[in-house]
Amino acid sequence: MLKEKIEKIKEAALVAVENAKTVEEVLQLEIQFLGRKSEFVGILRQLKDVSPEEKKEVGQLANAVKVEIQTLLDQKKKNLASTFDAAAEKIDVTVPAVKLRRGHLHPLTQIQNEIEDIFTSMGFEIADGPEVEDEFHNFDALNMPKDHPARDMQDTFWLRSQTSADKTQTKADNRQNDTEEKKGERILLRTHTSNVQIRYMETHEPPFRIIAPGRIYRNEAGDSTHEHTFHQFEALVVGDDINVGNFKFVAQQFFSKFFKKDIQIRIRPSFFPFTEPSFEFDISCTVCGGKGCSACKNAGWLEIGGAGMVNQNVFVAAGYPRNKYQGFAWGFGVERLAMMKYKISDIRLFHSGDLRFIKQF
Ligand code: PHE
Repeated sequence: MLKEKIEKIKEAALVAVENAKTVEEVLQLEIQFLGRKSEFVGILRQLKDVSPEEKKEVGQLANAVKVEIQTLLDQKKKNLASTFDAAAEKIDVTVPAVKLRRGHLHPLTQIQNEIEDIFTSMGFEIADGPEVEDEFHNFDALNMPKDHPARDMQDTFWLRSQTSADKTQTKADNRQNDTEEKKGERILLRTHTSNVQIRYMETHEPPFRIIAPGRIYRNEAGDSTHEHTFHQFEALVVGDDINVGNFKFVAQQFFSKFFKKDIQIRIRPSFFPFTEPSFEFDISCTVCGGKGCSACKNAGWLEIGGAGMVNQNVFVAAGYPRNKYQGFAWGFGVERLAMMKYKISDIRLFHSGDLRFIKQF
């Protein structure tokens, strides 16, 4: 009985496989004839109810048939897969290609490159300085001694100093420590790019004009306009008779080139220990040009950053004689410029790692 059923299944399978036209059809037949719910597997389940002799005989037959059907199915699959069907394979050459994804520079890097290009074209040099800085170059030399209240304007990430802890104390070391302490030996993450002013002046003589773009750190809570890690770029121009007029001209040129439209500069009195006089400076609104709109909250002006004439104490700290040179300096945020240029509302997007943001640039 069972033997006949198996023979019948075999015949049906042979015919069906023979007639199959596609790989999908063959896969269907595989399920139909050998799958878990197939008649064939049903028969194998009935084997437990028959006599031992019959069980042996039928079992052997079932195995042979299973191998036969499976071999046939596999062969048919192979044959069908290798037949090339020209009609089905026709290629539509007018279908638009899938765009390959390419990486590109981060928007902040692009902005920094742009800034560097503009200043290089105006004869500026690009200077660089360390992000892990000592207290002297970040604060003291910039006319911000230890107890100066202006230090509170820039909440600082202090780093643990190895040198002082590791030293075996000798008299000479003590003297050394004293001078290091005076020079501000404690180390920190720089709170502004103004440290490069000092580093550059220590090794160069005026006249010169530089910008110093770079990453800086402030130990403060973040919101849509503040981050603990961001970028500034410093400008420093020093010579015999550099004056505020030179500053206004360079700033006006730079911003007009950067925003690709005529930009006016306005300066307001302010205070920084390292400049005297100091100012905050604004540019005419990049959206309305000064008439007043929502971008400038109807003021017609946008705040950009701090600037001023280099304080003579800073020149002295860097090793220049007092009152020999004059210069201007400024420092402002690269993120802020990028946000103005591209109308980005949240500074945190830059370092979010969100590709949906990055890909737009
Ligand atoms: N270093 C100042 C700051 O980070 C900016 C500044 C630089 C102001 C140079 C004046 C001159 O706030």
